[in-house]
Amino acid sequence: MPATPFHLVVAATPQGGIGRGGDLPWRLPKDMAHFVRVTSWFGRVPGMLAYGPQVAAMLSQAAGDPQPPLNAVLMGRKTWDSIPRKFRPLQGRANVVLTRGDAAARSAIASEATPSTPVHVWSGFDEALEAIAALPGPVGAIHIAGGAHIYAQALAHPLCRTVFLTRVERTDGAAIECDTFLPPIPASVFALADDNRVRELLGPDVDLTTQTHGDLQFKFMVYERRVGA
Ligand SMILES: NC(=O)c1ccc[n+]([C@@H]2O[C@H](COP(=O)([O-])OP(=O)(O)OC[C@H]3O[C@@H](n4cnc5c(N)ncnc54)[C@H](OP(=O)(O)O)[C@@H]3O)[C@@H](O)[C@H]2O)c1
Repeated sequence: MPATPFHLVVAATPQGGIGRGGDLPWRLPKDMAHFVRVTSWFGRVPGMLAYGPQVAAMLSQAAGDPQPPLNAVLMGRKTWDSIPRKFRPLQGRANVVLTRGDAAARSAIASEATPSTPVHVWSGFDEALEAIAALPGPVGAIHIAGGAHIYAQALAHPLCRTVFLTRVERTDGAAIECDTFLPPIPASVFALADDNRVRELLGPDVDLTTQTHGDLQFKFMVYERRVGA
């Protein structure tokens, strides 16, 4: 089964900083909610937006109603490890973890699956994309959730269609200390979408202002693959 296009979701400083000490360098509840919403809903149902009243209706569906296929969220083993145990696996999405670890390491990760939340473990990026496409039962969109090793492979991949970037900065302009970095988003391949286009993609409810949280400010942005790139 051929692999399907995918999207990338990341929060980064203007210098590309995404992590520090194996964790996120910040706590931004609104960005976390954006991550949950985009990864859970963007691309899951054709024509349905990640933000907006359709999603509110879907989220309030009574248990037992038919649900659309889950999106898949693909991450490296270190990012999986960085998610607190009580939040793993990420609910409402099929979790896909990449590792080159041995059988014991792989089955330890896979054993965290729950009846409602599958966890798959694969040992190669393209192998994972192909395996997701071949899973029994439908799968919605695929979202790449980091970290740096996985983002680098995704950004260089011809099937990477969309980059959902939350740009995070300090309000005083000082740099945020990071030790893990997103490679530059290549301008020849991806174009920054304007606000109208972002609302088309995510819905009219998405907040596209620069928001503040303590001494940080952040803004939701979207890059799309250029036609023919
Ligand atoms: N700001 C954000 O949006 C964001 C998002 C996610 C993560 N982060 C941060 O990023 C940092 C983690 O990133 P990282 O780059 O150090 O680690 P990572 O990309 O999460 O994980 C790297 C690991 O993934 C496995 N892996 C990578 N490529 C593979 C491949 N092609 N095939 C099989 N396995 C593969 C290997 O696992 P094994 O060693 O087990 O073989 C490798 O050591 C943390 O600080 C985290 O908080 C930030």
